[in-house]
Amino acid sequence: MHFEQLNQSGWAQTYLLVDTESKKAALIDPVYDFMDEYLNVLEERDLNLDFAVATHTHADHITACYSLRELTGCEYAMWKDTACLGVSHYLNEDEQLMIGSLSVKVHHVPGHTNDHILLETPTHLLTGDFLFTGEGGAGRDDLPSGRVDEHWRSLQKLDSLHGNLIVCTGHEPPGTEMKSLDWNREHNPVLQMSSYEQYHAWQAKVTAGLGSVSKIKTALPANIFAEIPDHIPWMN
Ligand SMILES: [Fe+2]
Repeated sequence: MHFEQLNQSGWAQTYLLVDTESKKAALIDPVYDFMDEYLNVLEERDLNLDFAVATHTHADHITACYSLRELTGCEYAMWKDTACLGVSHYLNEDEQLMIGSLSVKVHHVPGHTNDHILLETPTHLLTGDFLFTGEGGAGRDDLPSGRVDEHWRSLQKLDSLHGNLIVCTGHEPPGTEMKSLDWNREHNPVLQMSSYEQYHAWQAKVTAGLGSVSKIKTALPANIFAEIPDHIPWMN
């Protein structure tokens, strides 16, 4: 397996998974702003894109999943109950997504959104906005379909996962080193909490400091209706 983080200059992380033998690939949480980069990587390395996966309905960027499906014919995969249009492969709990001979396990972890999933490879855990690195804690639960109590319940699902998995999140400051799940068990505040009340108080404090999501009114409808707007305010 080849595993790589793309668009490192941005705050939203995309991951490339490749079954090196068959050259079949998957892009996890690709961002529309970086479409050219993805297409170049696929072409230069002669990769076949089997899947573009969104870990959840993103509110802070336009997903490239639908556009990649249109351009390459790959499957666009999301949790089975997502509201998003354009999805061609609906994921189920404990499903093994096969990228060539590489197996990726799906876990449903509602909370940040109701359609959020984790993807578990043999070595990495892709957590989207469900869990961030260390002090980053977890994604906010006050956006559409977010539920703080669901998120708390979903966090308990991590207990059964192997501590050596490298936690690869959906957002970090550029250059952040990804750490193991065991490291996060020691350094991530939300993994040290013992009660829902603690988590609820932490979410309330964090979200109060975040304010509104600047791109949400463009990004959320684009992602739900699988339509790229004619004018994207943050792109030329
Ligand atoms: Fe998100």
